[in-house]
Amino acid sequence: MALFEREKRGERALLVLPYTGKAAAARRAQEFAELAQSAGAEILGSVHARVDAPNPKFYIGTGKADEVQAKVRELGADLVLVDHALTPVQERNLEKHFSARVIDRAALILDIFAQRAQSHEGKLEVELAQLKHMATRLVRGWTHLERQRGGSIGLRGPGETQLETDRRLLQKRVEQLQKRIEKVGVQRDQQRRARLRNTLPRVALVGYTNAGKSTLFNAVTRGAVYAADQLFATLDPTVRRLEGLGVGPAVLADTVGFIRELPHDLVAAFRATLSEARDADLLLHVVDAADPERDLLIEVVNGVLDEIGAGGVPQLRVFNKVDLLDTPARIDRDADGFPTAVWLSAASGTGLDLLRQAIGERLAGTRVHAELRLPPRAGRLRARLIELGAVRAERYDEDGWRLDIDAPRELLLPLAGDVRGDEGKLLRAWLDAA
Ligand code: GTP
Repeated sequence: MALFEREKRGERALLVLPYTGKAAAARRAQEFAELAQSAGAEILGSVHARVDAPNPKFYIGTGKADEVQAKVRELGADLVLVDHALTPVQERNLEKHFSARVIDRAALILDIFAQRAQSHEGKLEVELAQLKHMATRLVRGWTHLERQRGGSIGLRGPGETQLETDRRLLQKRVEQLQKRIEKVGVQRDQQRRARLRNTLPRVALVGYTNAGKSTLFNAVTRGAVYAADQLFATLDPTVRRLEGLGVGPAVLADTVGFIRELPHDLVAAFRATLSEARDADLLLHVVDAADPERDLLIEVVNGVLDEIGAGGVPQLRVFNKVDLLDTPARIDRDADGFPTAVWLSAASGTGLDLLRQAIGERLAGTRVHAELRLPPRAGRLRARLIELGAVRAERYDEDGWRLDIDAPRELLLPLAGDVRGDEGKLLRAWLDAA
């Protein structure tokens, strides 16, 4: 970036990173810095603060608050971002102490969502969450701060005008928003029902923020969807047709990235995107395979899925970014031969064919693996089964054929209808029993 562009950069922010226990979590610190950058802040520095027992006045200790204050002066920061939830009182006390605006983790995430929301529903949900967050903080006003210094982080969306409005108006706006959201929700449900009527299987991408969902979505649908190294690039679900699965087309939805300690009101703001996850036939849980904390992040994502009622939807893990690990692309399978995970690189395209194959197999649903006995006259059916690749091995004895069948049920069901007469009946009866 050219030097002269420095002027245009965001608000000058100092990060305060509270931690408990022995070590400050480096990964968490980095993630918070990314959040701050996503909101448009220029990060001047950071201060780690050990918090074993939160101080009711400042949340962080008094000595630490003094240290941060000195650093705010030294660096000329306008904004202090604290990676934890603060009570309205703590926020106010810290602002007075630092003579700088203070924003906690929840407000920062809300701000990013306000920037990213695109659909009507997404915008309404985020505004509602922001207003609720502000409502508790409204009494104090912002008069103790030098507002003329400007700044926008945490003030986007409903923003300053609402801060100056009284509680009664705020309450009215909240009610109005809730009504509108309800209405949009009803419309969305109707649209979904209409979509369900055309019965294509639905696949949804979920995953921790920055795992590579949008990149993967692009790569497998060959569309042009925005992918950027920014958190929450996609707040609203984007939906495309997915082809080449071997079981007919499906519909693929990209969804918002998940993150730990999601502000509670925002779980509602996720509704549009998360309903895609809940209604899916299969979730592609995208994981950054190169992240040392990947197991923990998988748990975070599964936790949010549980919270929104999508915990029971079948999952296929997608370990992305194998290019960073020097691991070849591959499919992992369980004891029954079902794909459980695919290792690939969305950016380089390695393993995308395996992903299509694995999705196809999973969508094909239950596999049938059993012996089928056919009388010698059922040669036509036997030929069709072989043609479809459903026969693993076969034997012939005095009673006829013994076929070792191993195939998706979905592949065999239409065949039972296609093959007329006794052979069709025989296959149908066998499928019912298998
Ligand atoms: P959110 O919108 O925050 O949920 O992120 P996302 O999961 O959609 O991630 P996105 O596709 O925006 O990718 C995040 C970053 O990872 C980008 O910088 C991508 O270029 C990078 N990335 C994605 N796939 C790969 C990959 O296979 N290999 C490598 N090395 N980087 C990748």
